[in-house]
Amino acid sequence: MSLANLVAGRSSYRIFSNDWHGVDLIEVARAANVPIDQVANHHFYEHLYRKWKTQQFEPEPGWIAGKRKWAETYRDLVLVHAPATSRVLSVGAGLGHVERHMVSLGMHVDLQECQSESLDPSDFPDSRIWVSQDLHPVPDASYDVVLALSLVYVFDEIAYATFLRDCHRVLRPGGLLVVSDHDPSLPLSRVKQWLLNKVKRRRELMWGWLRSPNSHRNTAEQSGFRYLEQRFYDRRYEAIPNPFRVCGLQLPKGPSLGQVLVFRRG
Ligand SMILES: C[S@@+](CC[C@H](N)C(=O)[O-])C[C@H]1O[C@@H](n2cnc3c(N)ncnc32)[C@H](O)[C@@H]1O
Repeated sequence: MSLANLVAGRSSYRIFSNDWHGVDLIEVARAANVPIDQVANHHFYEHLYRKWKTQQFEPEPGWIAGKRKWAETYRDLVLVHAPATSRVLSVGAGLGHVERHMVSLGMHVDLQECQSESLDPSDFPDSRIWVSQDLHPVPDASYDVVLALSLVYVFDEIAYATFLRDCHRVLRPGGLLVVSDHDPSLPLSRVKQWLLNKVKRRRELMWGWLRSPNSHRNTAEQSGFRYLEQRFYDRRYEAIPNPFRVCGLQLPKGPSLGQVLVFRRG
C-alpha cells in the first residue's frame, strides 16, 4: 500500500478465518481441495454450503433477524435513489435471506451466485437465478440496480476492478450500484491473532480483503461509477455517523459494523 493511499484513507488488509457458524473452514478447504492461503473460490463455497445443508448447522441467534433488518435498510436506500419498480440484481446472494425479504417487501430481485448449492429456486418463483462464476451470462444494460452485499471481500484489487466493470456493463445508464461490506478497524487484533496462531500452531483460511470506505470509493470511481453516498451502521443495524479514522480505518473496537456505499453508473 503506497503512502499516498494511506494519507488519502485508502487502506486494505487481508482477513483470515477458520469458522463460519460452527463450520470448520479448514476442513471445507481440504474437502474442496482449495489451498488455505488462497482466497476461497466457488469450489470452496460449494462445499461450504453443502456441508451447511447436510449437517443442519444452526446460525448464531439474531443472524437471520439481522439479514431481514439489512434487507429493509437496502430497500430504503435503493428507494432514495431509484424507483420502486427497479429491476434489482443481487450478486453473490449466498443463502438469499436478504433477497427473500426484499421480494416480500415488493421489490423485483434477481439473484446471482458462483455455485448452485446455496439457493433453492422454489424460494424465488418470480426471480431469475444466475449461477456463474462472473456476470458474463447477464445481458448488457439489463438491470437498474446491482447489489454487492458482503461479497467484494472475496476480490483482490484486480478482480474487484474487473467485477465493477461487469456491474457497469449489466447496469442501465444511470443505474445504481450498492456495495455493502464490513467496516474495518486498525488491524491490531489481527496481530494478536497471528501471535496466538504461531503459539498454538493453528492455521486459518485466507478469507479475503477488508477495505476502508475511501478504498472502495476509489476503485468504483476508477471503474466508471459516480459516488452518491456512504452510510455506516452499528451492531444493532442502526445508522451512525462516519467514525473517526486513521488511514481510513476505525480505531480498534470502532462503532461501525458495516459500511454501505452507493454509486451511480456513469
Ligand atoms: C458472505 S456471503 C454473502 C451472502 C449474501 N450476499 C449476504 O449478504 O448474506 C458471500 C457469497 O459470495 C459468493 N461468491 C464468492 N465469490 C463469488 C463470485 N466470484 N461471484 C459471485 N458470488 C461469489 C459466495 O458463494 C457466498 O455465497
